[in-house]
Amino acid sequence: MRRDGHVLNTIGNTPLVELKNLDTGPCRLFVKLENQNPTGSIKDRIGLSMVEAAERLGHIKPGGTLIEATAGNTGLGLALVAAQKGYKIILVIPDKMAQEKILHLRALGADCRITRSDVGKGHPEYYQDIAERLSTEIPNSFYVNQFANPANPFAHEATTGPEIWAQTEHMLDAVVVGVGSGGTLSGLGRYFARVAPQVQMVVADPIGSILEPLIERGENITPGSWLVEGIGEDFIPPNCDLSLAKKAYAISDAESFFTAREVLAKEGILGGSSTGTLVAAALRYCREQTAPKRVVTFICDSGNKYLTKMYNDFWMFEQGLLDRPKQGNLIDLIVRRYQEGSVATLAPNETLLQAYRRMKLFDVSQLPVMEGERIVGILDESDVLLSVQGDPARFSQSVASAMCATVVTIAPNAPIQELLPIFAKDLVAVVSDHGRFVGLITKIDLLNYLRKQLG
Ligand SMILES: Cc1ncc(COP(=O)(O)O)c(C=O)c1O
Repeated sequence: MRRDGHVLNTIGNTPLVELKNLDTGPCRLFVKLENQNPTGSIKDRIGLSMVEAAERLGHIKPGGTLIEATAGNTGLGLALVAAQKGYKIILVIPDKMAQEKILHLRALGADCRITRSDVGKGHPEYYQDIAERLSTEIPNSFYVNQFANPANPFAHEATTGPEIWAQTEHMLDAVVVGVGSGGTLSGLGRYFARVAPQVQMVVADPIGSILEPLIERGENITPGSWLVEGIGEDFIPPNCDLSLAKKAYAISDAESFFTAREVLAKEGILGGSSTGTLVAAALRYCREQTAPKRVVTFICDSGNKYLTKMYNDFWMFEQGLLDRPKQGNLIDLIVRRYQEGSVATLAPNETLLQAYRRMKLFDVSQLPVMEGERIVGILDESDVLLSVQGDPARFSQSVASAMCATVVTIAPNAPIQELLPIFAKDLVAVVSDHGRFVGLITKIDLLNYLRKQLG
């Protein structure tokens, strides 16, 4: 198939950039910008190679349905290729994945089936088992199965490896990879074993995944959970040849997210969550060396889809990953604090239309109404609804006319138990310190706070 000027022809041949502003010890560290593939990740490479292999082998026929279990990025690559080639596609996705990936998939025309992320292989709701089952039920369908499909590692052996070797001008000592299906590790490992066996393959692994303990200490652990997306294992996929890995580093979610944020702040590269894991592991490797080495790792996907997560301080606070000094009172439960300018508010003379738009913009169901530092009311969705129903012209009425002006406040040093009767009345707790508004506490804030106590 000739693809001059075609979107599928823009897959691969990604740039290699040196990280200049991070401490790499005696080494030089380069990153391959896989976020520049058309759907924003390294997985476009395997999306194309697996579909074209299936076509060559007669596994899919025109009008057929591709089925895959995926954390999102492989789905995007496959959905792009499927749409361009006229196939239908069903994707089974674990429920911890970023909402933005799922929206992108649905916009590409994929049928997304969300399933549990807290169950393992053998469980009827495990995403890979569901995908396999669907492929036996749906006629003219093909289970792509990136975990066992040889066209996955082959894409890296045939394209990613030779690109890196040429871009480093054959001066390369180590490649740091993450392992999702094992395609990158196995494909690159095989390529370099052939052309430059001195190149070390190093695995960057989230804490909780079984790989680092296995590679480093031959230890089999019970898998835990982690927030970084796309990498880490609770089983060894057939496509993952661990014998190719010479070294591994276990990286926490916190270190991954802070490193990804640092890569953006210092190097201007907006990578996804696994970028943090890979760069953190690569930096550790670089700093441990005593002789200068040239090391390559990957920006596996774009950070665009994580803007509301690890790039969002409030999300980081909620996860307990970003800490503020503890005050030992109710202020510790308030994620958005008025003094920090992070609370969306209303003025009494604004209109209900403005109030409605602000609620939608900040995705909240109530807003405090402020006069200077003092809270003079609360406006929630039902207040707006009761005012405008029957006559939408009333959207031009003032916030003051519809708000609830009797605001019961709670002092920062009140005991936590005093929140419960407030929540029982379906109200939010308004924290006020000697007349100065501090912030709101909702039921979910209390739940987040209690969950963090679990550690
Ligand atoms: C987001 C993401 N997906 C997948 C992978 C690797 O995938 P695989 O082992 O399937 O080649 C990586 C590797 O770092 C990654 O960062």
